[in-house]
Amino acid sequence: MTVEQALSTAQTEVTPDSALPNSKADRTPLLSVQDVHTWFELRRWGFGRAGHVRAVDGVSFDMYAGDAVAVVGESGCGKSSLMKTILGLHMPTRGEIVFEGRRLTTLNREALRWYRSQVGYVQQDPFGALAPFMHIERILEEPLIVQGMKNARERADRIREVMHEVRLTPVEDFLGKFPHMLSGGQQQRVVVARAMILRPKLIVADEPVSMLDASVRVEILRLLQGLQRSHNLAVLYITHDLSTVRYFSERIFVMYAGKIIEKAEVNDLLRNAYHPYTDALLAAIPDPDAHNATHLREVPPGEPPNLINPPAGCRFHPRCNRVIEGLCEVQIPPDFEPEPNHFAACWLYKEE
Ligand SMILES: Nc1ncnc2c1ncn2[C@@H]1O[C@H](COP(=O)(O)OP(=O)(O)OP(=O)(O)O)[C@@H](O)[C@H]1O
Ligand SMILES: [Mg+2]
Repeated sequence: MTVEQALSTAQTEVTPDSALPNSKADRTPLLSVQDVHTWFELRRWGFGRAGHVRAVDGVSFDMYAGDAVAVVGESGCGKSSLMKTILGLHMPTRGEIVFEGRRLTTLNREALRWYRSQVGYVQQDPFGALAPFMHIERILEEPLIVQGMKNARERADRIREVMHEVRLTPVEDFLGKFPHMLSGGQQQRVVVARAMILRPKLIVADEPVSMLDASVRVEILRLLQGLQRSHNLAVLYITHDLSTVRYFSERIFVMYAGKIIEKAEVNDLLRNAYHPYTDALLAAIPDPDAHNATHLREVPPGEPPNLINPPAGCRFHPRCNRVIEGLCEVQIPPDFEPEPNHFAACWLYKEE
């Protein structure tokens, strides 16, 4: 069974959104990403001119309680930099991250600790994410200690509760183990447990399954999907793999060279992509029966641009087969809305 087929069958096992308390009724954004730029300074060598890698270059979107959003794009387009900026690991060069109405750049130490309890992080490489010399109980206890949970009994209870939730059971078999004693899938369950232990409202999952083998990928995506629905959790899911997003996310953002170039409901985008880049990405989805081929697929022809000195105008224009001469290579396209709630930053959809 492919990842796609397995997730498709999982649809019936979860509570529909409309049945959840507070689901989309509360329209106050949980997270608001406002014109965020994350540029990395290049070191100056000799007399060479210093420059910047424009990893994230003007990204805006809102997420709400219970939202499941996927960000897709080629390697190096800035997905992880965007994630790390949201997590507060990089300061935005320009723009703001606003969480429940509070601007990240204005938070003091105490408030930052609160923020870290609200946002859980699931990394790509579970083994690299876990301290090799700590056993599982200690790994899960640490965030509780940092957040000031003083009562050891309470900590032990919360650890057991979250281990049940991620199905690391029987719990007693895992508590004393070290990460290297676990399989890749079990390690990723520990990472998910650690991300969940402080009862966050948002989980940021950066390629959470790309290093796992196909059968385990399904389990971990189902686990995240179940947690998202049962806790009304917002999940920002980053992936190269377009074939899994339909079953996990409601909205999808396509990122290209530091910018979001198309935003829509997942099914709308998969049915009808407007941006020529998205079109090319969709055409490159592999045959679902081709074993484990999702990361071997062809990407749109040509090279992604250099983010130090990106092309003028639309950044995709050097690879695009629908260029409008005199426009695309000169002016950056704004977001157009060719159908309601479907946005494409492409001059083809300029309203007359
Ligand atoms: N700390 C950093 N310092 C300098 N440049 C960086 C830093 N982090 C990322 N970059 C650069 O920013 C660009 C975007 O990188 P990023 O890791 O965000 O891409 P990505 O979309 O997550 O790629 P992948 O799919 O391979 O994980 C790349 O050119 C990368 O080399
Ligand atoms: Mg990345």
